[in-house]
Amino acid sequence: MASENQNGDRRHQEVGHKSLLQSDALYQYILETSVYPREPEAMKELREITAKHPWNLMTTSADEGQFLNMLLKLINAKNTMEIGVYTGYSLLATALALPDDGKILAMDINRENYEIGLPVIQKAGVAHKIDFHEGPALPVLDQMIEDEKNHGSFDFVFVDADKDNYINYHKRLLELVRVGGVIAYDNTLWSGSVVAPPDAPMRKYIRYYRDFVLELNKALAADPRIEICQLPVGDGVTLCRRIK
Ligand SMILES: C[S@@+](CC[C@H](N)C(=O)[O-])C[C@H]1O[C@@H](n2cnc3c(N)ncnc32)[C@H](O)[C@@H]1O
Repeated sequence: MASENQNGDRRHQEVGHKSLLQSDALYQYILETSVYPREPEAMKELREITAKHPWNLMTTSADEGQFLNMLLKLINAKNTMEIGVYTGYSLLATALALPDDGKILAMDINRENYEIGLPVIQKAGVAHKIDFHEGPALPVLDQMIEDEKNHGSFDFVFVDADKDNYINYHKRLLELVRVGGVIAYDNTLWSGSVVAPPDAPMRKYIRYYRDFVLELNKALAADPRIEICQLPVGDGVTLCRRIK
């Protein structure tokens, strides 16, 4: 969790980010040396707009945005999906990484927050890649699975929504992602609470979702259909590469 450092520097906290690094100064160093100087103007603008929103704790951090953008380019992703959009920071990082004919099926139960970021996405010239669906993601996945032609059709999926459904998403996404494609689950270290003793003081929502995150991490580690890599970026992100 963010805290004030020796210089009274609270910027880390202001961006609503919960770094897992031990030192806020080190995290700030990463942002200032490697992330902010290379952050596209549109992402900076959206980050600053989002920082003023009351739920800014939910946004993807700038370093994770940079990571996703690089990853998508490395795997030459073209057809992608995002579950959990909020104001669209990770969505914009994705849209900027895809080729001009790339696609993102973006789902969120809340359109209002997506519309906060939409003008920035439009100005960046990438809105044509996005197909936004308002509503819960699970029924959309179920509907897609009914049509064979959607099977194995996605190169990349970013899951950053209701943690109690991650296991349900996983079952479906494995049918929809191609062999060699990647599913990235966000918040898999859940503010570090995955190693906290069960009786440790925790915010209510952290406690509530903690068991689901623990269960997901175990299930992913044991799933022979994927290779995994858990990274301490942002709040922890686990990459799952489908191998069968
Ligand atoms: C952590 S935020 C997403 C952050 C976003 N990726 C970003 O870069 O700012 C989680 C989002 O999941 C959405 N959400 C919650 N339950 C959902 C569901 N069942 N289906 C789709 N979206 C859902 C919430 O409305 C919220 O906007």
